[in-house]
Amino acid sequence: MNADRIRSRAPTDESTLRRPLFGSTSRSNCPEMIVTIDGPAGTGKSTVARLLAKQLGFAFLDTGSMYRMIALRSLMQGIDPGNAEALEQLTLKSRMELVNGVIELDGENVEGLIRTAEVTKVASLVAQVPAVRSELVRRQREIASTNNIVCEGRDQGTVAFPHAECKFFLTAAPEERARRRQAELLAKGEHVDFEKLLQEQTARDQRDEVRSVAPLRPAEDAVIVDTTSYTVDEVVRILERTVRERAASA
Ligand code: C5P
Repeated sequence: MNADRIRSRAPTDESTLRRPLFGSTSRSNCPEMIVTIDGPAGTGKSTVARLLAKQLGFAFLDTGSMYRMIALRSLMQGIDPGNAEALEQLTLKSRMELVNGVIELDGENVEGLIRTAEVTKVASLVAQVPAVRSELVRRQREIASTNNIVCEGRDQGTVAFPHAECKFFLTAAPEERARRRQAELLAKGEHVDFEKLLQEQTARDQRDEVRSVAPLRPAEDAVIVDTTSYTVDEVVRILERTVRERAASA
């Protein structure tokens, strides 16, 4: 199997004692270390998680992209986001593989298609379907079972990896999160009204926080980092220091 192509068949034993192996994503002869980063949109989670993984030499898993892929497919096939049965079937049929740090959908890189406003909205709707969540969490565990990994999402520390060695929950003031999102869209040439962005963000936060399955909340043992007044590099430094300290004291 291509070393950069990560798809595990091994069962995940959550009780396994894990030790860090910095600088290597492979853990063929060594238990893995899992670092989880959760939090709402606009806290810089993805950027921070990707950079942290690079610093540690770990694999990186963007779990939001998995929900986005189901949203993309459902839009393409005209499936109603309220049709849980059809969404479950769609999820079971969609093959996902981590290739060079990006998840491919049925062998295709769809990064360019899953970041639109429409997919963003539908992703937060399909993420409310319990059967979709349980299948995607199963796949996340499978991927992590053979890797030292940084997993980023909403439920990584609470549901997917309750025994992860190091858990972080990033927060930031809502206005700052919307401002960051506006700047990100502007950099792509999209002008979006700030108040509209803030309203949509609040609606998505609420859906994530009140849903019955895996609501967005920090794990009890998560380190909470308010990123409002920090740069990305500063946040990465804080997280990296914490991971290395944990690893040294394990
Ligand atoms: O992080 P991102 O914005 O790409 O996630 C897209 C959507 O997927 C979120 O709005 C959230 O509803 C959902 N999500 C989730 N659990 C995760 C990751 C993402 O519910 N672990």
